[in-house]
Amino acid sequence: MSDLKPYLQELIAEIDTALDQQLPTKDTAPETIHKAMRYSIFAGGKRLRPVVTLAAAEALGASRESALPAACAVEAMHTYSLIHDDLPAMDDDDLRRGRPTNHKIFGDAIAILAGDALLNESFLMVARTEATERYNGLDFVRELATAGNSQHLIGGQVMDIEAEGQTISREALALIHDTKTAALLTTSIRLGAMAANASPIQLSSLSRFGRAMGHAFQVIDDILDVTADTETLGKTAGKDLVAEKSTYPSLLGLDGAKAEALRLTNEALQALDELDGDPTRLRQIADYLLKREY
Ligand code: IPE
Ligand code: IPE
Ligand code: MG
Ligand code: MG
Ligand code: MG
Repeated sequence: MSDLKPYLQELIAEIDTALDQQLPTKDTAPETIHKAMRYSIFAGGKRLRPVVTLAAAEALGASRESALPAACAVEAMHTYSLIHDDLPAMDDDDLRRGRPTNHKIFGDAIAILAGDALLNESFLMVARTEATERYNGLDFVRELATAGNSQHLIGGQVMDIEAEGQTISREALALIHDTKTAALLTTSIRLGAMAANASPIQLSSLSRFGRAMGHAFQVIDDILDVTADTETLGKTAGKDLVAEKSTYPSLLGLDGAKAEALRLTNEALQALDELDGDPTRLRQIADYLLKREY
């Protein structure tokens, strides 16, 4: 199996082309909203979520093409969550993906609406997934809606805000990370697997992989907020401390947080041990995420 980097570049190119085709063009009326939606989608994110959607489909022997609509959908939902996360009423960030945040360019009202519009587009996108023997269109839509609901992504964002300035337990912090971040990452993998007609056992292994890897991903995000610089991150470093966020470094210290990221990554890798398929790329991705610098 070749290096991971060219593989990721190949997938990202396919995802970017598909997103470009599926989103309304920038001169569709009213132009402002479509420009704002595209501004954040094409600002240069890592595309981790759609990448794992495609890699999960491939791991089960399906074509990447079959999972492309779902891949676009998870990236659209993720980008909506970032636009809203950055709003002055939430994390109040000026920089995202190396550019001024959406509301800095388009104003709060359009940024809120661009987020809402991307969320709706995400459902239109996932609904374009071809049904398989085990999963129909409604299964795909339900899967995505659940990841984004008030007990998952949105619930996690609520708990994250409510935990500012508080000392919370490790269990409470784990729940925040599990809901605000790991849920959509798990669904990203599950949608790829479902597009590949995964068996219940395959889906269960991949879900365990996604949960642990997604949790590790947010632990590493918290670590990088402390250790990396703004230019490398493409978003303002050191924000969590200023906002008194409850994070793994704040609760366990940097070394404790790093140990937890390693433990979770190993847990993720273990979940793939008995997968009926070829999880080589998924393993490589989990390993790369642990070592990432942005
Ligand atoms: C940032 O996600 C928000 C978190 C859930 C930690 P990413 O680090 O995947 O952001 P992009 O998509 O690369 O910009
Ligand atoms: C964001 O977590 C999780 C989302 C659901 C968007 P953070 O607030 O830590 O993400 P960054 O650091 O701003 O990317
Ligand atoms: Mg946040
Ligand atoms: Mg934030
Ligand atoms: Mg962060």
